[in-house]
Amino acid sequence: MSEEHGNLIKSPKQLAIVVFASFFIPLIVIALLMVYVGNGKTKGADADAANKLIKPVAMLDFKDASGPKVFKTGEEVYKQACASCHTSGAAGAPKFGDVGGWSARLGRGYDGLLTALIKGKGAMPARGGASPSDISNYELGRAVVYLAGSAGGKFPEPKAPEEKAEAK
Ligand code: HEC
Repeated sequence: MSEEHGNLIKSPKQLAIVVFASFFIPLIVIALLMVYVGNGKTKGADADAANKLIKPVAMLDFKDASGPKVFKTGEEVYKQACASCHTSGAAGAPKFGDVGGWSARLGRGYDGLLTALIKGKGAMPARGGASPSDISNYELGRAVVYLAGSAGGKFPEPKAPEEKAEAK
């Protein structure tokens, strides 16, 4: 029995080292863990990162007709209903971000462009094919501002209808 131990620890010095290590290494690990956990609580950056992860879930837009209406942003409408044509330039659509393709059209003004979109124009179906119950005129307007803005247009954001102006 004693010989087996003797193989591992041959001198009092080695014994001291082993005792020292077995005492302090766990202490260091615990200290590091405490620093790690403490950071999560105190540092704003970590909390912000966590909030960003949670946000898309917390902001899920459940379609509840009785609840306050949450308007889509111009970018959201664009991605949902316009990008299919305006990103690629399909069917001769003026492309997103193409200053040359938009310059003449921008001269028609925000109202002119929005009217063309709502009525349909050339190969573009009325409302870009979106149904009015899904995308309102106001939301179409925001998409026009977003799309035109990508190509040098500087139209102001349209006003939100009714009293729900805070839902930007
Ligand atoms: C099916 C393809 C298609 C979709 C979807 C589409 N567009 Fe278009 N869009 C076009 C085409 C093609 C034109 C060029 C029409 C023309 O001048 O003959 C156009 C032109 C426009 C114009 C310029 C109108 C003018 O008076 O010159 C605007 C603004 C516009 N689209 C916005 C949108 C927005 C915003 C959406 C999404 C809600 C959208 N479009 C969805 C194909 C599309």
